[in-house]
Amino acid sequence: MSDSRTIQLTFPEPDVALLTFDLPGKGANILSRSVLEEFYEHLQALEKRFDLAGLVITSGKPDIFIAGADLREFAAALDADQPPAALRKQTIEICTQGQSLFGLLANRPYVTVAAIHGISVGGGAELAVWCDRRVFSHAESTQYGFPEVKLGLMPGWGGTARLPRLVGLGNAVEMISSGESIDAKAAGLMGLAIDVAAPAELVPAAIRVVRAEQQSGDWLKDRQRWTGPIAISETELGFLGATASGYIQQHTHGHYPAPLSALEVMLGGAGVDIATALKMEADAMSDLFGSPVNRALINVFFLTDRNKRDTGLAKPVAPKTIESVAVIGAGIMGQGIAAANVRRRIPATITDASPEALRRGVEKVLEEVSFNKTIKGPDAKRAFEFGPLLTPTSTDAEVARASLVIEAIVEREEVKREFYSRLEPLLAPDAILASNTSTIPITQLAAGLARPERFVGLHFFNPVRKMPLVEVIRGEKTSDETVATMVAYAKRLGKSPIVVGDGPGFLVNRLLLPYMHEAVQLLVEGVPLKAIDKAAKAFGMPMGPLELYDIVGLDTAMHAGAVMHSAFPDRVSDSPLLRALYGAGRLGQKSGAGFYSYRNKKKRAEPDPTLDEFIRPLLGGKSQPEKLSGEQLTDRLFLPMLLEATRVLEEHVARDARDVDLGLIFGIGFPPFRGGLLFWADTLGASAILKRLEPYKSLGARYAPTPMLLEMARRDAKFYK
Ligand code: NAI
Repeated sequence: MSDSRTIQLTFPEPDVALLTFDLPGKGANILSRSVLEEFYEHLQALEKRFDLAGLVITSGKPDIFIAGADLREFAAALDADQPPAALRKQTIEICTQGQSLFGLLANRPYVTVAAIHGISVGGGAELAVWCDRRVFSHAESTQYGFPEVKLGLMPGWGGTARLPRLVGLGNAVEMISSGESIDAKAAGLMGLAIDVAAPAELVPAAIRVVRAEQQSGDWLKDRQRWTGPIAISETELGFLGATASGYIQQHTHGHYPAPLSALEVMLGGAGVDIATALKMEADAMSDLFGSPVNRALINVFFLTDRNKRDTGLAKPVAPKTIESVAVIGAGIMGQGIAAANVRRRIPATITDASPEALRRGVEKVLEEVSFNKTIKGPDAKRAFEFGPLLTPTSTDAEVARASLVIEAIVEREEVKREFYSRLEPLLAPDAILASNTSTIPITQLAAGLARPERFVGLHFFNPVRKMPLVEVIRGEKTSDETVATMVAYAKRLGKSPIVVGDGPGFLVNRLLLPYMHEAVQLLVEGVPLKAIDKAAKAFGMPMGPLELYDIVGLDTAMHAGAVMHSAFPDRVSDSPLLRALYGAGRLGQKSGAGFYSYRNKKKRAEPDPTLDEFIRPLLGGKSQPEKLSGEQLTDRLFLPMLLEATRVLEEHVARDARDVDLGLIFGIGFPPFRGGLLFWADTLGASAILKRLEPYKSLGARYAPTPMLLEMARRDAKFYK
C-alpha cells in the first residue's frame, strides 16, 4: 500500500462503495503517480467485492472534483533531458498505464458513477468519462473540460476515445479541440451527465443512479456499445473534419499543433474499436509531449501559477481593502479601468476635464458592462445591475471620497502633477493615489507630494477588458503596504499583477517601445507597412506593431516615445514620421486614420494610400523598397526587444526572467507558444543571438550586444535556470 491517504473508502449503503478524493494539505486533488497507485489499489481491493451494486467516486474538496494530472511530474520528465526516443517511449507507457487503470472503471462487475462538484478537468475529466455514468452538481463552480490542448497536449488517458463514444463525435471534437469547459447544464444536454443535483444531494443522486441502472441493465448495454466503432457515416465524418479543421486553423494560425492532432485522433478513432483508438491516442500524445510548443506552454502554465500565488513582496504585508475607486480621465484607458471595477462590483466614480469626453466615456463604460456575451449585445438586466455602480462627476470633492484614485489623463507630466497637487490635500490620509502612466517614472511624478508612500504606478494594458497584466510600479518612497494593497486589488479585478521597478517605460513598455520604434524605422527605410505587420503576426503577435500604434493612439505613443527618447537617446530616436502623422490629426483608430484607415463601415484597419505622402519625403531618395526576408524582419523587430530585456534584468527593473516573460505575454500578447521572450531566447542560445545581431552592427546601439548577453554567451548560460 502507498502511504499517502488521498482516497477514502466508505460505504454509504452496504452494497455501494464510495471513494472520496481528498489530497491532504492541498486545495485541489491532483492525479500524481502516487495518487493513481492508491486509486489502483482501491479498485483492486474492490474487485473481490461481488456483493457490490455500485461504486461512486467523488471529492472531499469544497469546489474541486479533480484538477487533472500532476504537471510538476510532467515537467520533471521534460527536464530529465532524455533522448527523444526515450521520452516518446515513456509517454506511451504513461498513457497506456492511465488508460488501463481508468479502463477498469468500465469493466467492474458493478455500476461506476462519478459524482462531480466543482472543477473537473484534464485527467479528472478522463477518470469521470470512464465511469458508466456521471452526476453533476448544478453549482456555478462545476466546470468540466479537457484543457490539454492549452498545454500543447491532448487527453492521453482515454479522453479522445471515450468522450466521442459517450456524447457524439461533434460534441467531443468541440470540447477537446477548444479546451473550453462546460457547465452542468451543457453536460446534461449532451448526455454526459445523467442527472444534475444540488451539491449536498450529489452522492444520494449517484446512488439512485446505481439503483436505476441495476434495474434497467442499460449500463451493460452501453459498455458493450462503447467498445466498438462510432456509428457515423463517411459523409458526416468528412464534413465534421473539414469544418473543424477550418475552424481550428483560423484560431491557431498553424502555431498550435495540438488541437489539429486531437481532431485527427478522434476522427481516426471513430471508425475502429476502442482498443485501437486508445493506441492511436497514446501514439499522437508521444508526438506532442516534449515538443517545443508543449514545453513553451508548460512554461506559461508555471508562470501563471506562480503569479497567482505571488503577493509581490518578499515578506508578508497585509493589504488594505479598496472600497471604492475614482477614475480620472474618461479616455480609452479610463473607460476600461472603470468598467473593470464596475464588473467586479467595486463602485467607481469617473471624471474628465472635458464634459463631452466624460459623457462619451460613461456611455462606453455602460455599453461594456451591460454587454452579454451569450446574446452578443446589451442586456437590460446587466445594465440595471451595474449601472448604479458608476457615478460620473465633475467635482474634486466627490473624487476625493474614494479609497483609491486612479489617474488616467494625458501622458504629460505637468498635467498629471497639476492634478495631484490639487487633489492630494482633499484625500483621506490612507487613500491611495495611483497613476496609469505608461512611461513617466513614478518617483518623478511623486516629487512634491505630501504622502509619496501612498503613491504608486498602476499600469493597465490596452484593451483593459482583454489584457490580464497590471504593472504595479514602486516609486522610491512607495510603501510596502501600498504595493501589497495594489497587488491584492488588481487580483480582485481578475488581473495578473507584477511588481516592477521604476524607470522610463517600467518593464513592458520599456521592451515594447524599441520594437514599435523599429517598425517605424523600417517604414522609413522603405519596407512596406504590410510586410512589417505581417512579419510580427507570423512570429505570433496578435497584431502588427503599426496596427498597435493605431490602437494605442499616435498621440499617446508619441508622448511615450518622447519619454523614452529622452531616457535612451542612443537607442530611441524622435520619429519625424510620427510627428507628421500626429500633426495631420492622424491619431489612429480614435480619429479614423493613423497608419491605417478606419473609415469603413466596420471600422477595421485597411491600407491607406495617403500614408505614402507622409513616408515619401523621409525615404532619403531611396526609391526601391528594401527587400528583407521574413526572418530578417523578425530579427529587426524582436532583437531590440530582447536586448532591452537584458538591460532591465541588469538594472533590476524586473525581478527575473519569468516576470519579463509573463509581463510580455499578459501585457502585449507575446505569443504563448514561444513560452515568453526569454524562454524563446533560450531556445536559440546566447551565442546564436550574437550571430543574428552581427548583420545589424551598422545600425548602432539598438543592435549592440549587451554585457549580459556577451557574458551569457561566454558561459553558455540561459535565462531560465
Ligand atoms: P485618452 O487621450 O484616450 O484619454 C485621456 C483623457 O484625459 C481625455 O478624455 C482628456 O480629456 C482627459 N484629461 C486630460 N487632462 C485632464 C485633467 N487634467 N483632468 C481630467 N481629465 C483630463 O488617453 P488614454 O489612452 O486613455 O491614456 C491615459 C493615460 O493612460 C496616459 O497616461 C497613457 O500613457 C496611459 N496608458 C495608455 C495606454 C493606451 O494604450 N492608450 C495603455 C496604458 C496606459
